[in-house]
Amino acid sequence: MRIAVLNGPNLNLLGTREPAIYGRATLAEVERAARERADALGVELAWQQTNDEGRFVELVQGLAGHADGALVNAAAFTHTSMAIRDAWLAVRVPFVEVHLSNIFAREPERRRSLLADLAVGLVAGFGALGYQLGLEALIEHLRTHAA
Ligand code: DQA
Repeated sequence: MRIAVLNGPNLNLLGTREPAIYGRATLAEVERAARERADALGVELAWQQTNDEGRFVELVQGLAGHADGALVNAAAFTHTSMAIRDAWLAVRVPFVEVHLSNIFAREPERRRSLLADLAVGLVAGFGALGYQLGLEALIEHLRTHAA
């Protein structure tokens, strides 16, 4: 099973970026822990991060036929990007939305996700652990809903 992990803007700055909200783990550390979990669960992980909306759209478009599912932290694009929403509508690869922070307990403009209703489910508020929880939930979903 192949799982893509897509990370959006400013997540490359994890570790130093607003640590009180996002924690002290770097993106490389989050990736390492997710890879360990993926290995234990016997799935292949393709990890990406981009600060560019167009690139993010291309990454989503590229999933068709290449990934069984995706774990997605679209970061600020979550709240703004109709283009990324349209890409998911076109591609229809099952995904779990993940956020380090609980976006529903933050500023009003962060409480809306343009992706959440398209997702299998959403994990928010558990920091870096959310990636592992989301991965586990996604794999379980894919295994039990296999065509
Ligand atoms: C985030 C929440 C977003 O509102 C924010 O723009 C981010 C990170 C999170 O993981 O908590 O960059 O997606």
